[in-house]
Amino acid sequence: MNKAVIGLQWGDEGKGKIVDYLSDDFDLVVRYQGGNNAGHTVIVDDTTYKLNLIPSGVIRGKICYLGQGVVLDPYHFYNEYNQITKKIDNPMVYLSSNIPLILEYHKQLDKINELILKNEKKIGTTSKGIGPAYQDKVGRKSIKLYDLKSKYVIEEKLHTIKKFYDPILESFDESKINIEKTVQELLNFYDLVKELIVDNSFIKKKFINKKILFEGAQGALLDLDHGSYPFVTSSNTVSSNIVIGSAIQVDYKTVGIFKAYATRVGNGPFPSELFDDVGDYIAKKGVEIGTVTKRKRRCGWLDLVSLKYSCEINRVDELCMTKADVLNNLSEIKVCKSYNLKKYEDVNFSESYSLDAVSLDDEDFELFPSWGEVKDLSKFENLPYNLKKFISYIEEYLSIPIKIISLGPERNQTIIR
Ligand code: IMP
Repeated sequence: MNKAVIGLQWGDEGKGKIVDYLSDDFDLVVRYQGGNNAGHTVIVDDTTYKLNLIPSGVIRGKICYLGQGVVLDPYHFYNEYNQITKKIDNPMVYLSSNIPLILEYHKQLDKINELILKNEKKIGTTSKGIGPAYQDKVGRKSIKLYDLKSKYVIEEKLHTIKKFYDPILESFDESKINIEKTVQELLNFYDLVKELIVDNSFIKKKFINKKILFEGAQGALLDLDHGSYPFVTSSNTVSSNIVIGSAIQVDYKTVGIFKAYATRVGNGPFPSELFDDVGDYIAKKGVEIGTVTKRKRRCGWLDLVSLKYSCEINRVDELCMTKADVLNNLSEIKVCKSYNLKKYEDVNFSESYSLDAVSLDDEDFELFPSWGEVKDLSKFENLPYNLKKFISYIEEYLSIPIKIISLGPERNQTIIR
């Protein structure tokens, strides 16, 4: 059965490791949304791989595909691909010809968008030009990979784009769009990657009846429509976007992935956020620093209210929990089970203003005693009793089984049930 690995929180759940782990059983690994705002660090033996666009399945020699729902920064992609070719023989990566490109002016506009917002209203984007690139896609201005075949088409499109955006760029003292330079850069890029570009029908035909693993980027609570708007990313991160973003119409099982606590980078509501020493301890022990922007991630207790919502909007079949080892030895572990005693059915998650009003008190938390150190990772039964209790509480709350438990960055620190 095909599978989709979807982040259920605000991203950074550890999808990279799990996709790498699972990809052994699949023929093709597919990204269907987002861009190089995502970031994975995968450690295999002594080698550390840092990936933003290419699915981590590439490390296992799997064929990887970036679908039309992705936005692609040509320079970033080329550098990442080049890095991979130095570590892996013949990496197999295909790009949908229907992918819109992120150009320099998108990054400038991303900066301007943030600049004009007041402090607490700033989104805190990754500054990679993601939002403006999707804006151009919806606004029917994008330069897509298939356009790169023709110098004339690139030039023509850039002229329209320039007319539209130069006045804005100029008024914020940003450099104007340089058509000649951009055309040349795009033609050079095309020369380097044209062998990787395929149309949507190629991938469908090649992988008919093969096993596919879909890799979500970011997390469900950052979804453009389901997340706490406007503090979201600019794509649909939920599993229902898979068919549109990949153009591959197949059935799949959804594996929802979450950390045993919660983190968020950038602004926006975070009801179970910790502002004390415990939050700092988790951040330090969990190395909660953004892979893309190197910003310190905000940390908090696991929030089951939002997790239940994420499971529902993604139709999650099974769960994977990561990083419970970060909570080892804490004298007390908390889990948020209600928002001001409200259940998830009564919360509007896509309205950040209503989430801002949530301020949790003791009754909104379930408490768990320390489970000490996790020493034996050989099988589930050997985990500490208190950790098993923590796991069954989550399973019962969500009515979904936790089938994968990851207790460290290495492949062998994974328990499958
Ligand atoms: P953008 O996707 O760069 O437009 O950023 C929008 C929001 O999503 C910001 O709060 C970012 O910090 C957040 N974000 C985007 N990508 C990721 C990710 O991969 N992990 C965690 N947060 C992300």
